[in-house]
Amino acid sequence: MADSDSKSKPWGGRFTESTDAFVEAFTASVGFDRRLYRQDIAGSIAHARMLARVGVLTAAECDEIIAGLEDIRGEIEAGDFDWSVGLEDVHMNIEARLTERIGATGKKLHTGRSRNDQVATDMRLYLREEIDLITAELERLQGGLIDLAEREADTLMPGFTHLQVAMPVTFGHHMLAWFEMLERDRQRLADCRRRVNLMPLGAAAMAGTTYPIDRHYTAELLGFDAPAENSLDAVSDRDFAIEFTSAAALLLTHLSRASEELILWTSAQFGFIDLPDRFCTGSSIMPQKKNPDVPELVRGKTGRVNGHLIGLLTLMKGQPLAYNKDNQEDKEPLFDTVDTVRGCLRVFADMVPAIEPKRERLRAAALEGFSTATDLADYLVRRGLPFRDAHEVVGKAVRLGLEQGRDLSQLSLEQLQQFSGIIEQDVFEVLTLEGSIASRDHIGGTAPSQVRAAAQRARQRLSR
Ligand code: ARG
Repeated sequence: MADSDSKSKPWGGRFTESTDAFVEAFTASVGFDRRLYRQDIAGSIAHARMLARVGVLTAAECDEIIAGLEDIRGEIEAGDFDWSVGLEDVHMNIEARLTERIGATGKKLHTGRSRNDQVATDMRLYLREEIDLITAELERLQGGLIDLAEREADTLMPGFTHLQVAMPVTFGHHMLAWFEMLERDRQRLADCRRRVNLMPLGAAAMAGTTYPIDRHYTAELLGFDAPAENSLDAVSDRDFAIEFTSAAALLLTHLSRASEELILWTSAQFGFIDLPDRFCTGSSIMPQKKNPDVPELVRGKTGRVNGHLIGLLTLMKGQPLAYNKDNQEDKEPLFDTVDTVRGCLRVFADMVPAIEPKRERLRAAALEGFSTATDLADYLVRRGLPFRDAHEVVGKAVRLGLEQGRDLSQLSLEQLQQFSGIIEQDVFEVLTLEGSIASRDHIGGTAPSQVRAAAQRARQRLSR
């Protein structure tokens, strides 16, 4: 990146000495905001069109400006653009280059606008596009979960509370729990997008402008739903970045929880699933190791996005209206949040279809820990025992099972009858894992038929 002579700054008129060299580097944002070049150019083209439409620019000037901006976009994309730290940010770099290329007409582009409304517009255009890309990747992941849920709708596994065996569930049911978490994230992103898609342009520095601008026209050209209502708010608001980062933090929290489960499940002690080698790495010292690096990293990266959320909230909390240079600090956390979420979603969407549940091991694990104890209690209740008494009876049966190292289904009828005379031979139908899951046969329950129906509904919801 080139330095420039500080006296050639756009504000040079008022200044008697050039900017201190370190201050120039300290205040510059071009090192990171150049990623907004496409949005900046699109915003400038729309602004120029609008100025021509209201008669502030001639049609010829507008054409010249647009052609110049398009050439600059070509230069940037070809890697031929000479970014200058002296020109501080992406906006002034592009504008200066425009004037260099097309001459005096280039200086007219900034009529009726300020970098304050320009940068807020660029950020919203950028984020809108990223939300759409993130949503597409999220939907790919959700689709993968539905497929996996259907494939494993009959696969038994232990369900946990307190990480202690609770009741048998199906693997498909568990995958659909993940789906629901992500579906809320999808809705949050869609809701956030509605507030992102409002146009600050026309607020100028903070009070609006004296030119007869047509903000509805510019908004339409840029695909915004409407111009922002209040010029002060338009240039100072960064709620959209905070809201997005908050939605991203929650989305990553969900991926982090799923990651934690995958990590546990791949351990030798659980042995519930296999992850293919292409999603794992080995150890440089322990030859036997196959580490679940992908879910571990997703879990780890969640922390930095949580940090960005706090960073952005803290950035805004003390700012008086309207624009303050503090706002330049919104970019790196937002960009990193976008990059992190996109990377995590991509790797998760690739990995989920490759999860291989180890069905026999899952079934055996469901037989450990008395996972059908509640089914026995419900059986007793159906035969007239109050639930609290049934709880007591089953507790005693579990104690016997523990002493003898047997599951409830492995105790004899006589042994069970010691605790309650109302138990009969048919009790063994509810003590099996299959009987247990099949009986949870209502919307939201784990019965395989319910899991299949839920998967079908999930697919419909996803396509809406
Ligand atoms: N680089 C600045 C930012 O990111 C652009 C707006 C600067 N406006 C100003 N008046 N200094 O916020």
